[in-house]
Amino acid sequence: MSHFLDLKDFTKPQLRKMLSEAASRKKARAKFAKGEPDKDQPLKGKAIALIFERPSTRTRFSFEMGIRQLGGEVFTVSGAEMQLGRGETVADTARVVSRYVDGVMIRSKAHETLMEFAGAATIPVINGLTNETHPCQVMADVLTLEENKGDVSKLKTAWIGDGNNVCGSWIEAVGVLGGALRIATPQILRPHPEFLQWAEQMKADVQVMTSAVEAVAGADCVVADTWLSMHDPEEEKTRRHNLLRPYQVNEALMARAAKGALFMHCLPAHRNEEVTDGVFDSAQSVVFDEAENRVHTQKAILLHCFGK
Ligand code: CP
Ligand code: NVA
Repeated sequence: MSHFLDLKDFTKPQLRKMLSEAASRKKARAKFAKGEPDKDQPLKGKAIALIFERPSTRTRFSFEMGIRQLGGEVFTVSGAEMQLGRGETVADTARVVSRYVDGVMIRSKAHETLMEFAGAATIPVINGLTNETHPCQVMADVLTLEENKGDVSKLKTAWIGDGNNVCGSWIEAVGVLGGALRIATPQILRPHPEFLQWAEQMKADVQVMTSAVEAVAGADCVVADTWLSMHDPEEEKTRRHNLLRPYQVNEALMARAAKGALFMHCLPAHRNEEVTDGVFDSAQSVVFDEAENRVHTQKAILLHCFGK
């Protein structure tokens, strides 16, 4: 039994194995209807709960469909409907839930909640996004990048905008898998120093700068995300928008990346804020492949967690 909490917890061979499992399962399903089960049913007899303390479209749909395809049972619960909000501790909740289901995916408001849940659970726990990281998303991003450009360890990725949770998992992905990451962000929105210190220890090729133009130079892939994440207070919206406007990914910025560079975004996107329609809808944009690849990569993550 293993958890899937953060990319930094894994070795390169472990992540590579999950990525290749995802790619081969994706290939095997090419002619399948979406609701059709996989030929093998490795999660038959397993029940998995998805707990959401924040809204979700992709994470919910992709986990539900992926678990069904693997033969498992799945149900979704909103954190707000649980006793969590009424003072039952996270650890006691994890102990109780562990008596009912075989695995849990949790999208928690605070990273500490995820860690406390995983620490007390006796079943596999998967991180479905916290305020600090979003490892399932970045596994799908790496698969998408590699489908188009080959081995991530030979590629340069530019992260443009807020040094947020998805950026945190990108730092960890490059730290474990290799490759170069250039992060362009206003000084006060830099990734948390712990991510950067870890990257330094890993001797990862990660650099943070304020210039978006400098970051995209020679990049094989340009990544953007919302300027206001779910964990950011709404009152910060104007300030963040003012800070981040110079970091919009537009046609002029894409033209400075490597020829044929991809555009990636975890979605939901705020069109003509962090990315222009022209870039979002261009042939370079692989945003919907990233969304699809959530299903394939999460199936591989589930198999890892259940030792299959
Ligand atoms: N990218 C992503 O995790 O989307 P949702 O918030 O819709 O799940
Ligand atoms: N950074 C975004 C990602 C959404 C999937 C957020 O946390 O809201």
